[in-house]
Amino acid sequence: MVGGELPDDDIALIATPLQLPNGVVIPNRLVKASMEEGITGGLPGKRHRRLYRRWGKGGWGGVMTGNVAVDSSQPATPHDLRVYDSPHTTPLYCELHDALLADAPEPRPLTLVQLSHAGMQSSATFGLARAPWVPALAPVSDRPSLGRGPFAWFLERAFWPTKSRAVVDRAEWLDIAGKFVDAAQTMEEAGWGGVQVHSAHGYLLAEYLSPLQFVKSVKINCSDFVQGGLDEEQAAEVIREVVSWKLVDILEVSGGTYSNPAFTDPPPANARESLFSYFTQALIPTLPPVPHGPAIMLTGGLHDRALIASCIRSRACDLVGIARAAALVPDLPHRVLLNQDLDASKARVNVAAIPHGDLVKCVLGGGGMSGLSPGRIKLVGASVSTFWFEWQMAAIGRGEDPDPALDWISGIFHNWLWYDLCSGGPVGWYKRWMGEW
Ligand SMILES: Cc1cc2nc3c(=O)[nH]c(=O)nc-3n(C[C@H](O)[C@H](O)[C@H](O)COP(=O)(O)O)c2cc1C
Repeated sequence: MVGGELPDDDIALIATPLQLPNGVVIPNRLVKASMEEGITGGLPGKRHRRLYRRWGKGGWGGVMTGNVAVDSSQPATPHDLRVYDSPHTTPLYCELHDALLADAPEPRPLTLVQLSHAGMQSSATFGLARAPWVPALAPVSDRPSLGRGPFAWFLERAFWPTKSRAVVDRAEWLDIAGKFVDAAQTMEEAGWGGVQVHSAHGYLLAEYLSPLQFVKSVKINCSDFVQGGLDEEQAAEVIREVVSWKLVDILEVSGGTYSNPAFTDPPPANARESLFSYFTQALIPTLPPVPHGPAIMLTGGLHDRALIASCIRSRACDLVGIARAAALVPDLPHRVLLNQDLDASKARVNVAAIPHGDLVKCVLGGGGMSGLSPGRIKLVGASVSTFWFEWQMAAIGRGEDPDPALDWISGIFHNWLWYDLCSGGPVGWYKRWMGEW
């Protein structure tokens, strides 16, 4: 809040600017949360620029990129943007930033890059960024657990043929931390307003801290939702510790890992609840209020104006992160959430309806069509949904509109076989490599 009482009206409340601890003001409470874009990974190209331009003019208070791998050999997926030690890196991230702000209305959104290191979850065979026998780097030597049963056992070994290599050497840890620092400096040079360190969803925990005007944000889990993982009490302790450093401006709360991707598990279609507000509501009264402490950003299931307003009003959050709905409606703030002509009952987006999504989840063992898929592998279920949203973003990148009626089964042929692999032939492959695609 820049100052004064919060308004009673939902739209006015969501449109209230917010001042961060470092003095930067976010024009409203809606932040397009991080989503891996589903476009050829590497350095940002034309399609990324088209996609971010659409978000830029949508009326968001902030726009965050999908995760950008600070170590180009350790991405989460083949579509991840990456930072390379190359003279093209800064200019291309600068072009992406310029595209994002090209048609942005005043006051312009805060622009954030999410920096990540997928840690143990970086798959050599899926990410295609290193040879299959080269392990991921992680605090321990292991591979992610996808559940019980032979299919889960098979998938674990297909994605992670070798166990991760434990980073035990202090010099190597410092090298990884240095990659975050270098990447953050690159983004600052490229004009971005801040970075977020991805310390949620089972990614390698890392830190980037510096006393600049540049915004520092951290994404932290409220729980890993797996036995032996971070629980809510420990998460609250970590968050209080991070807040006490007085160096972080935005703290985003999420939950889950690849073993249990709670962060993208849609609540039932009729549920009107955020995924993690029960946690932040208890936590926030124990923290200094913004701008004396970081703004708390809550992400997960917040795609409804009344729900968003009630979360801000009840101090479950200061900012709202929105991912899936932003892939379906890139100008969600202007078109829906802050649109005075739209009645409250219609000011929402349903992210649960994916044509044939449940059937595919069931066939692949990821749940869906309850009861028919007993040994559910949660990562498979979440991936079926995630890919569909990536295809929506990839379509925007090609200059098309998102298509909520896109059938999952035709989507896989259309997007992966045609646009990702075949389209353009060898010239297309070269262009993808050069970031001109
Ligand atoms: C297609 C897709 C890609 C995602 N990529 C990322 C990512 O790169 N980094 C991240 O922190 N979270 C990522 N997420 C998780 C979202 O940021 C968010 O936490 C989650 O989708 C819940 O928010 P929502 O209910 O508004 O979709 C992704 C989610 C989706 C659907």
